[in-house]
Amino acid sequence: MPKPIIAANWKMNKTLGEAVQFMEAIKESLPPVEQVDAVICAPHLFLERLTKAAEGLPVEIGAQNMYFEESGAFTGEVSPVMLKDLGVAYVIVGHSERRTIFGETDEWVNKKVRAALAHGLKPILCVGETLEERESGRTNDVVKTQVTLALKDVTAEEAKNVVIAYEPVWAIGTGKTASSQDANSVARFIRETVRDLYDPATADAVRIQYGGSVKPDNIKELLAESDIDGALVGGASLDPASFLKLLEATRNE
Ligand code: 13P
Repeated sequence: MPKPIIAANWKMNKTLGEAVQFMEAIKESLPPVEQVDAVICAPHLFLERLTKAAEGLPVEIGAQNMYFEESGAFTGEVSPVMLKDLGVAYVIVGHSERRTIFGETDEWVNKKVRAALAHGLKPILCVGETLEERESGRTNDVVKTQVTLALKDVTAEEAKNVVIAYEPVWAIGTGKTASSQDANSVARFIRETVRDLYDPATADAVRIQYGGSVKPDNIKELLAESDIDGALVGGASLDPASFLKLLEATRNE
């Protein structure tokens, strides 16, 4: 079983002052790095301050998006080189909000995954089906296509550094969580997909998170499942006490 990874996705929330206060509030209570990889994915504007605030602490900072080119005439975008330079460790790629609101395609997601890996950033690759796709029995097909296209031309060695977040679109921000059994069956299917694309060792090394209305009171049940190695959390990651509870849930009793 790989080490659990709990990642906060703050989305477009907080001011810089609030972000710094959050770090102050959690810094004394973070669990050791041997127990869990704790990650905070913050808006780009906060990353410089947060990577400094996280120095020496068992928490790493992630971005929520980036462009795949290193530099150039791409007004408004942020490159992997810039993120790496700030000490950012992770980057969320292909979140459903980016796919649906900002029109990101699987081809772009693939370019971003490859660019992140090429620059030593660990991608948190988001996949997941809509309600309509689930109800028409297409969940596995959708997820398999997303994973396969996102990992095109990614080597097995590189793929081991990819975190895959299974986030059913209908469970994001809705208070509806997939049952832990349903979430696990898709997570297991994702692992099988990675095994088919690569080999068993790579499939075992890839960490698979569940995301979608994860809260302190449902996380333990999700983590107890065989193929769920962590969570990507929106709403419940915004409050320091709640985030600490999510991290604490990874402790082996
Ligand atoms: P919520 O935890 O707010 O449902 O958001 C999930 C998510 O989209 C994390 O990336």
